[in-house]
Amino acid sequence: MGSALVAGFINTGLVAPQDAIVSDLEQAQLDALVKRFPIKVAQDNREVVMSAGVVICAVKPAVVKTVLEEINPLVTTEHLLISVAAGIQLAYLEAHLPEGTPVIRAMPNVPALIGEGMTAIALGRFAGAVERELAEELFSSVGRVVTLPEGSMNAVTGLSGCGPAYIAIIIEALADGGVKMGLPRRIAVDLAVQTVLGTARMLQSGGSHPGQLKDMVSSPGGSTINGLHVLEKGGLRGLLISAVEAATIRSGEMQS
Ligand SMILES: NC(=O)c1ccc[n+]([C@@H]2O[C@H](COP(=O)([O-])OP(=O)(O)OC[C@H]3O[C@@H](n4cnc5c(N)ncnc54)[C@H](OP(=O)(O)O)[C@@H]3O)[C@@H](O)[C@H]2O)c1
Repeated sequence: MGSALVAGFINTGLVAPQDAIVSDLEQAQLDALVKRFPIKVAQDNREVVMSAGVVICAVKPAVVKTVLEEINPLVTTEHLLISVAAGIQLAYLEAHLPEGTPVIRAMPNVPALIGEGMTAIALGRFAGAVERELAEELFSSVGRVVTLPEGSMNAVTGLSGCGPAYIAIIIEALADGGVKMGLPRRIAVDLAVQTVLGTARMLQSGGSHPGQLKDMVSSPGGSTINGLHVLEKGGLRGLLISAVEAATIRSGEMQS
């Protein structure tokens, strides 16, 4: 996720490569990034904090405490710390940083890797309009951004955070259906991917509500309504609702 963000910031011209500085325990990660962009590499996380105004913490949730303890003595109220760690709450981040540090919690999703992510951000107690605008601008470089109260973050995780996995198996299953009906695998996957992409783009363009689009495709006595009947009998809608619910609840259980 850290690499995806660096790529987004630089590819959109939001950050000049010479203004970006990264650290990572894994040298291979750093080598790969430097090969792509002429960014600066720090020896450790402290050097990042000394050089940068906006610090993005993109380590696994279990490592966040270690990183915050490491950088704490160097963080000032002039910094903005943005964490993308799933389940790590604003209060936790603020408690491990000097009083008054502006903090933002962000929940991106994996299509950020290709600039098509969906990120929700929540503001800490000391983050105001300026910090919000900055974070929205930064995450816009890897997709779309919405600012929400922190209480919505588990639901965001359950929907857009986990959603790419749900859609991936839906695409796989649609392709399997095509294969069962005699289509070559490669063609079936192409058809399924483009159908999901095209439908999403149509809905995103704001032309119609999902229900209207469904009605538009379902001609009386036709194929689509017969397919839809099977999906309704199998409880597809209920299953998807329950999947978001279960992932939201699990996300809440894992937070600290
Ligand atoms: N991937 C997603 O789709 C996604 C979506 C939303 C949020 N997130 C959040 O983004 C964060 C990163 O996820 P990821 O999938 O990108 O994980 P990742 O690939 O494991 O990246 C984390 C990187 O941080 C490095 N690291 C570990 N300890 C460090 C330390 N003390 N100082 C500096 N770097 C350190 C890791 O190195 P080592 O490998 O050597 O440990 C690794 O290269 C997580 O908190 C996750 O919850 C991810």
